[in-house]
Amino acid sequence: MKETYRFRHKHILGMEQLSVTDIYYILDTAISFKEISSRPIKKVPTLKGKTIINFFFEPSTRTRLSFEIAAKRMSADTFNIATSTSSAQKGETLIDTACNLEAMSPDIIIIRHGSSGAPGLLTRHVDAAIINAGDGTHEHPSQALLDIMTVREHKKNIEGLKVAIVGDIAHSRVAHSNIIGFTKLGAEVRVAGPATFMPPHLDSLGALVCGSVAEAVTDADVVMALRIQKERQDDPLIPSLREYAQFYGINHALLQKHARADALIMHPGPINRGVEMNPDVADGEGSVILEQVTNGVAVRMALLYLVMGQEGGRAEA
Ligand code: CP
Repeated sequence: MKETYRFRHKHILGMEQLSVTDIYYILDTAISFKEISSRPIKKVPTLKGKTIINFFFEPSTRTRLSFEIAAKRMSADTFNIATSTSSAQKGETLIDTACNLEAMSPDIIIIRHGSSGAPGLLTRHVDAAIINAGDGTHEHPSQALLDIMTVREHKKNIEGLKVAIVGDIAHSRVAHSNIIGFTKLGAEVRVAGPATFMPPHLDSLGALVCGSVAEAVTDADVVMALRIQKERQDDPLIPSLREYAQFYGINHALLQKHARADALIMHPGPINRGVEMNPDVADGEGSVILEQVTNGVAVRMALLYLVMGQEGGRAEA
């Protein structure tokens, strides 16, 4: 007899841990939640009585706010702490802080941290479900899920799509999660950028390393540009932003010459306009950048719901 699928993850640490079935299940759940955000009264009682802490050690606009909106739309009680206002400023360790949060009985802790692996570390010290909202250069799974959801809405099938990711691949957790996610679902992921922005392990993730942006975007169905993550570089890794924009910036002429006419233009934000992407591309035909943000709320509602194991029984780690 066929076993019924059940989402079994207590924590969301990365795309690495999610199976193809898990990914589609999260996306289908997100679709069912998306409609709530277009109602006049944007609130359902699904997570009433649950306590959710947003624990952000790095700046964020989209991720922090959309997790908070997602939680509030599901009637959870939400609380935010940031490094600048927490006792981390006084020398408290991450684990001590987390154990103190745990002592207040939260159900979910959403964490963004500059160190790769910080969310995984917390799972060994607290009982709450942990959701990775971006850890160092490692993973940003909710971003990849909202990106895949956006592409799926437009292209229906992910399998067989050509997805070009351009820019600072080495320091981008968004790139890592998207490479893993899109590749798992059968897309061809091409990456391009300056050699100093290319980590050595890309082949093992299944990405095709291209020698130029033109090569990466040729016949691409999706073109995603990434910001240069200056905060993760001790010394500048490119000669100048002007040269970077000239050789690696996504502009209209490049897309018209090489990409498919119906290519989707994506960016996780925040955009440095005129550097990795020209404004006429960011705001132009094919851009789904703000749709990505809208879908971020739906995906995060789905993740909060699923890690709480609302479909019977407590989810497993
Ligand atoms: N895409 C993303 O992570 O944006 P924020 O840094 O604003 O959360």
